[in-house]
Amino acid sequence: MDITVVGAGYVGLVSAACFADFGHSVTCVDTDSTKVENLKIGTIPIFEPGLDDLVTRNISADRLRFTTNLKAAVKGASVIFIAVGTPSRRGDGHADLSYVYQAARDIAGTVEGYTIIVLKSTVPVGTGDEVESIIRSARPDLQFSVVSNPEFLREGAAIGDFKRPDRIVIGTEEERARDVMSEVYRPLFLNQSPIFFTERRTSELIKYASNAFLAVKITFINEIADLCELADANVQDVARGMGLDNRIGQKFLHAGPGYGGSCFPKDTAALVKTAQDYGGALRIVETAAAVNDQRKRAMARKVIAACGGSVKGKTIGLLGLTFKPNTDDMRDAPSIAIVQALLDAGATVNVTDPIGMAQAQGVISGVTFYPDAYTCADNASALVLVTEWDAYRALDFPRLRELMHLPILVDLRNVYRAAEIERHGFIYNSVGHKPSRPKSLLRAVS
Ligand code: UDX
Repeated sequence: MDITVVGAGYVGLVSAACFADFGHSVTCVDTDSTKVENLKIGTIPIFEPGLDDLVTRNISADRLRFTTNLKAAVKGASVIFIAVGTPSRRGDGHADLSYVYQAARDIAGTVEGYTIIVLKSTVPVGTGDEVESIIRSARPDLQFSVVSNPEFLREGAAIGDFKRPDRIVIGTEEERARDVMSEVYRPLFLNQSPIFFTERRTSELIKYASNAFLAVKITFINEIADLCELADANVQDVARGMGLDNRIGQKFLHAGPGYGGSCFPKDTAALVKTAQDYGGALRIVETAAAVNDQRKRAMARKVIAACGGSVKGKTIGLLGLTFKPNTDDMRDAPSIAIVQALLDAGATVNVTDPIGMAQAQGVISGVTFYPDAYTCADNASALVLVTEWDAYRALDFPRLRELMHLPILVDLRNVYRAAEIERHGFIYNSVGHKPSRPKSLLRAVS
């Protein structure tokens, strides 16, 4: 099947490469000529495990092409995916749909014969109707269907998520479009991935409701973690005990410094706006977003408390800057707010990240970047584990102790257990566990 993907960003690129790997003939189009030239030779603009191999393999097999020429790319395609960005609109939190509408206009000017235009970008409910009317007014005689097919890919695990999804959601009321979309996803039926057909507007809302639900779930366990710290309980066991109930489930109950990334903050804001537009309200989502925002700076206060109430004049080392491991994405990463709050409190801040340093240098200033955990820890009065990269899961604590001014670890991802760290003479603080501070070290801190 001939497929065109408009937009070679995160979603477009992963989708194009995976569709090609299924055996479809895929053309991926983007307006950024440097990006396209790089992609043609297999140079990937983002860090995503396995993606460069997948792209190179499918270019070589002549199933995947990249171009800036939209006209040529959409001509003859039976299915066109719109996978352009829908960032937060400056000022009001609404999703900015200008790229989606521009893509729709460009496509309308060129396509021939019955075409399915699929909205893969995350778009508010009703966007499919708008895209349909844009195309209908440009081409009154064209036979086409506009379908919603949201993506549920996690950065860092996107290829696995694409190839073994929990579900494929297709929103269309048209039989013909349904049949073609079944063909597009046929290779996944072998994995018995459930395909769920529904109405277009409902499908659009499923995406936002899913992300908002996950954001609320994380925020919920984060607040329970705060309570555990006060009440001397263990949030990891609370999460486990809750998650054994199948109705709740184990996943997305890891307490931490608050969610970040390109989706949850933007999508929760957009969903709240949508609800308001329709005269409704999503108070629970609105509150979760506000609580999550405040949490990032609260993590800096936790570090300050662990350091005896002040970090003024002290060196603090941060391990991990990206919003989660296995990505170089710094968008809305908790590290940004944590660094700023520590700088505001008078600390000298050292930072490191295995993959995200280049991206981090674009958004974090006033700090010193180090190549690894040990150089970052040199002379530090505390180390803060912000992102749970594998590289920080088996740190050499005797070596760190030698290097650091004071042996304090604030583990914002609960990677370690208090007993194992304290054995090395560290003061250990984590999330959702009562802080334990040996008296002798506390004296040294204050
Ligand atoms: C998310 C959705 O999972 C995905 O389905 C959607 O398509 C895009 O948004 P992503 O942003 O890549 O994917 O990251 P995800 O793995 O969901 O994590 C989001 C944030 O939540 C990260 O900051 C992560 O550290 C945090 N998180 C996640 C927690 O703090 N606790 C958890 O239990 C899970």
